Amino acid sequence: MLPSAHAHAMQVEQEVLGKVSPTAERRDAIQRTVRSLLETVRKEADARDLGLEVMLVGSVAKDTYLNDPDIDVFVLFPELISRNKLEKTGLDIGRRTLTKVEERYAEHPYIHGEWEGLEVDLVPCYHIKDPQCLRSAVDRTPFHTRYVQSHLGEGQKGEVRLLKRFAKGVGVYGAEARVQGFSGYLLEILVMKYGSFRAVLEHASEWKKGVTLGLEEDQGKRFQDPLVFYDPVDRGRNVASALSANSFALFIHAAREYLKAPSERFFFPSPREPLSVEDIRKAVAERGTGMVVVELDRPDLIDDNLYPQARKSLDGLAALLASYDFTVLDKTFHIGDRIRFVIELRSLTLPRAARHNGPPAWIDNASSFLEKWKGAGLSEPFLENGHWSVMVRREHTGPKSLIEAKFSSAGLGSDLRDLKGLRVETGEMAISERNRSALSLLLDKRKNWEV
Ligand code: CTP
Ligand code: MG
Repeated sequence: MLPSAHAHAMQVEQEVLGKVSPTAERRDAIQRTVRSLLETVRKEADARDLGLEVMLVGSVAKDTYLNDPDIDVFVLFPELISRNKLEKTGLDIGRRTLTKVEERYAEHPYIHGEWEGLEVDLVPCYHIKDPQCLRSAVDRTPFHTRYVQSHLGEGQKGEVRLLKRFAKGVGVYGAEARVQGFSGYLLEILVMKYGSFRAVLEHASEWKKGVTLGLEEDQGKRFQDPLVFYDPVDRGRNVASALSANSFALFIHAAREYLKAPSERFFFPSPREPLSVEDIRKAVAERGTGMVVVELDRPDLIDDNLYPQARKSLDGLAALLASYDFTVLDKTFHIGDRIRFVIELRSLTLPRAARHNGPPAWIDNASSFLEKWKGAGLSEPFLENGHWSVMVRREHTGPKSLIEAKFSSAGLGSDLRDLKGLRVETGEMAISERNRSALSLLLDKRKNWEV
């Protein structure tokens, strides 16, 4: 980094730190709220006489939260208690303590609600002895919390806050399926590994796909993920397993760009407006490509289930088009009130004629090829290098009829397979107010910090 950029980065980071760190009053207020919440949950838990423990976890417990934290509270159940009883009791404790409660499902149900105006996740888990022997997916969380509490230096908490805000601004914060990015815990252990926010970015700008990191002597099993960070509490797990190649790459790119020209825009990007219908029309006309928008009803699923199914369906749709000779230049999907797949094709029309290649003339069943195509194609069978070919009539010369006829047999997410509410629009028809956000997502390639 150039000395001038260095001084500028210091200034930017001081500024951002001021904005993302809770004030002393805010911190005290959160502490009080947490204390009264834990007290109430403990009372509810103790009344069950099941040997339950209540533990504050997540970023409030680790003091790495940004201004508006969710409070994460876990209720730890002895391993002898059945899964069913854990779920029932866990939900019941949440319902009785919190307000505005909503039952939510991750791998197992938990309660989201409010306590004194702050949002709370109340999650039941098993009190396991060894983080390698999980009974439910969230049982490692108390180990993560304790690990960070005992290993993250006081002076590094601000560094974590900067890094979280940076990842958020860039668009890669969160391990959930919608984002496929960096979890809070991953960013915390990255700061432990490299020491500071800036050091994380400096190292990240040199990362190669498959980079493997650890805090203890890293001998664990091999992973195929773009980034591997052995979990210090369970060497058999990659903390970065949810990170996609794109989020990994975008983080590397953002790190390089930030180090070249530090700016608050990486942390606090401007909101992005969808392009106007007029601008979309102009952009598409200039490209001369063909836009296809395929809409489906949005099934009632949580994002962690919906996004993987939408991704799979988008790939299935593109593969279908490619197998019928359409050239897919780009593709994306947008989930709003409905699911919209956007495909950019080299062209929306294919000629009626397609060439169909047959067997060499000297093999026995060459005659069946000839019989099949005699008078049936757009040409008589003809020879090239001794092989028969024929010009045939293409069934679908445009994407709309193809998708309407064949989308159901493409590789689709299981809850999208019935194609409820299917609508296919192409070309000028696809460019409309309703499709603005979806088309903008494909056309507007500016990075968050460039908006
Ligand atoms: N967790 C979970 N299920 C939930 C909520 C949280 O398993 N419904 C676990 C996560 O796996 C994580 C911890 O609880 O280990 C806290 O989750 P989260 O709030 O996402 O991360 P934080 O570290 O608290 O970071 P943030 O500042 O984003 O809240
Ligand atoms: Mg949290």
